[in-house]
Amino acid sequence: MRGADPGWIRGLLRRARDPEPGDRVLGGRTIATLFFENSTRTKTSFMLAARRLGADVVDASGTSTSVAKGESLVDTALTVAAMGVDAIVMRHASAGAAGLVARHVGCPVVNAGDGKHEHPTQGLLDALALAESQGRADDLDLTGLRVLICGDIANSRVARSSSAAITALGGRVVLCGPVAFLPASAGAFGPAVTVSRDFDAELARCDAVMMLRTQFERHGGPPRVSRRAFRAGFALTRDRVGLLRPHAVIMHPGPWNLGIEIDAGAAGHARCIARRQVALGVSVRAAVLAELLSLGSDGDGGGTPARGVASSGLAGVVA
Ligand code: CP
Repeated sequence: MRGADPGWIRGLLRRARDPEPGDRVLGGRTIATLFFENSTRTKTSFMLAARRLGADVVDASGTSTSVAKGESLVDTALTVAAMGVDAIVMRHASAGAAGLVARHVGCPVVNAGDGKHEHPTQGLLDALALAESQGRADDLDLTGLRVLICGDIANSRVARSSSAAITALGGRVVLCGPVAFLPASAGAFGPAVTVSRDFDAELARCDAVMMLRTQFERHGGPPRVSRRAFRAGFALTRDRVGLLRPHAVIMHPGPWNLGIEIDAGAAGHARCIARRQVALGVSVRAAVLAELLSLGSDGDGGGTPARGVASSGLAGVVA
């Protein structure tokens, strides 16, 4: 996702907004979902998107696979691929897992989240939701927009991928949170990304604030920041919504933990576009699958979808 070509991102998001009518480009194709971590939004939206495009979908749900009997991740993926699927959509707790699988199977592997590394389709849908909310959906140019991402940044794949997509389209990103939740350097997130610890000041100057769940499952021990300290400095309370400028919106990739990083009064506020993010997830993932699996037949990439994808810029989405 990082380093993705802005022209390619805009083309994909236009396809997401404006799919061809009756576009069932995946008729006769089969997509397998292989999720080793829980998911509501990502898995369901990939499945819906694939079905809307005419594909068959099999859910080889990772947590119920023979990995539990000792089979390796690669062998499990090779087994699924051997059944003749055209693509695997995969989520795993380890960074680089989708890339590892992609090096072994003969079909494209879409990264639906790998540990704290990347969640590329979330980044794409977040960029589209932001553009839409600020009247930028036609040109998909986010120049001049300032997006505040607050929470457990260091453990967040969403922070990485959304920063990449937003800055690729011209926006700026400010990462905010307690020291224990911030990355050692914002440089790894891109040149238009900075760090701040003053949440209230940043709320007053941003165009959108994206709150992130504390990833307790990735802390490997007791919470690194007390709930009381986090809430005092960095939770989006109903009162803090009042600091936002009139046009600024509230984003959240979900799932949210109400009463921790965001309060019900903020999550349910008219400025909150989290449900719109979810809705756009179906369209964006349909565009990804359509581009991914229609490339092999039109000559782009020399006859195989995987090579076509790599040459088109989907390389960050497809491992
Ligand atoms: N945003 C996101 O990845 O949500 P899920 O874990 O429900 O897929």
